[in-house]
Amino acid sequence: MPEFDLVIRGGTVVTAADTVRCDVGVRDGRVAALAENLSDGKRVIDAGGLLVMPGGIDSHCHIDQLSSSGAYTADNWESGTRSGLAGGTTMLMPFAAQFRGQSLRQAVEDYHQLADGNALSDYAFHLIISDPTEAVLGQELPALIKDGYTSFKIYLTYDSLKLNDRETLAVMETARREGALTMVHAENHDVIAYLTDKLLAAGHVRPEFHRVAHADIAESEATARAIALSEVIDVPMLLVHVSAREAIEAIRRARGRGLRVYGETCPQYLFLTEDDLLQSGWEGAKCMCSPPPRDKANQEFVWNGLTDGTFQVFSSDHAAYRFDSPKGKFVGGFDDATASFKKVANGVPGLEIRLPMLFSEGVRTGRLSLNRFVELAATNAAKMYGVYPKKGTIAVGSDADIALWDPELTRTVSIDMLHDNMDYTPYEGRQVTGWPVEVLVRGETVFRDDDVIAPAGNGRFVPCEPPQMAKPLGRPIHGFSPTTGVFSGW
Ligand code: URP
Ligand code: ZN
Ligand code: ZN
Repeated sequence: MPEFDLVIRGGTVVTAADTVRCDVGVRDGRVAALAENLSDGKRVIDAGGLLVMPGGIDSHCHIDQLSSSGAYTADNWESGTRSGLAGGTTMLMPFAAQFRGQSLRQAVEDYHQLADGNALSDYAFHLIISDPTEAVLGQELPALIKDGYTSFKIYLTYDSLKLNDRETLAVMETARREGALTMVHAENHDVIAYLTDKLLAAGHVRPEFHRVAHADIAESEATARAIALSEVIDVPMLLVHVSAREAIEAIRRARGRGLRVYGETCPQYLFLTEDDLLQSGWEGAKCMCSPPPRDKANQEFVWNGLTDGTFQVFSSDHAAYRFDSPKGKFVGGFDDATASFKKVANGVPGLEIRLPMLFSEGVRTGRLSLNRFVELAATNAAKMYGVYPKKGTIAVGSDADIALWDPELTRTVSIDMLHDNMDYTPYEGRQVTGWPVEVLVRGETVFRDDDVIAPAGNGRFVPCEPPQMAKPLGRPIHGFSPTTGVFSGW
């Protein structure tokens, strides 16, 4: 009887810590051994010439979600996880979004109904809190955190989602008390609303003016404010989809002061610029997201944030709305007479290209080591959200979620080759070198030779632990801790 169900033989195993030539033995869906010359398993994969890396974790994506604009995401759980697998991603962490007036528990149940039985790969949920009532923060949220929903996103912008500073403090206080992580969408709502009104009144309706309305300063002000609020509560916090130089610098400064302020960025801030909003017709809407892509010089600051560790997490923020659909970018259908950037659904697709493009432009250019790539692809997200080391690494005892990469394989991105439900990709025509050729979830091959072969329902819900990274520093403001009421002197 072979000792292993599967042996991955002869590849180069890369984790966040090490790069080692060895075999991987898999038993009962988990990594059972890492060593040279393992005995044969029931099945053997020849990984000669390939990189054997942890399956990616996309910790910010929108699946089967109604947006605040009324648009509905193109990807459901089947297509979203299929697209992830084809891009080397074996776990998704999308959102269960509460709408105002709704019970948070109900929102979670609704989203589970969509995911359970349909996902091809494993998944967890972040919550979106848009209505932080006493009942939500006092009862529902603590109970949900205990059930494995240990991170939640709040918004400082969007009419139907935004929290004011007092509400933000209340959410952060709950996060501190319960050991959960707050994720913040930091843009100044009033600045954006003011600039939008002025732009539209002056007749500037086209997609490129979205970038003017969502000014860098709107992002950097809200980022600095969110950092200040988290310092008042003395609680760690993650700023999501960070794009602007000044926002990156605010995070770097906060970390320099020892605060546990974390940052996430996304492919669109490395691979798109404001010029992509200028395409003819309304094609620029294909690249509209919030915050928007900024200029070429800004891209270098985003790269620097990735290389120097200011960013811990690299997620797609896959918020995919079809270009030609009444539920898509132009909600209700396109009407040239009334179209404006304000009406376009925000978000771009990126689940499948997230890792290949980061590999191609990050690793192959020498900006990122292979180990840093793995950190950004999987390990840091697993740690940030409390699923490490079950997920996010290749270690004895970890789930055998593994992507075998051919670092030399070059393909040209086109919508036809992608596995999502979209009718466009903003990256059409880009040459990308380095692609996964075989992907495993819990030891079973789910993607090979461009075919996703996992059945719907293959994916399991993974409850998250309270993240270690969400531990407070224990720094009261001027000796006063608002969370305990203790004043310990000047
Ligand atoms: O434009 C974006 N990012 N849309 C998705 C929603 C969000 O705020 O992440
Ligand atoms: Zn957001
Ligand atoms: Zn998002």
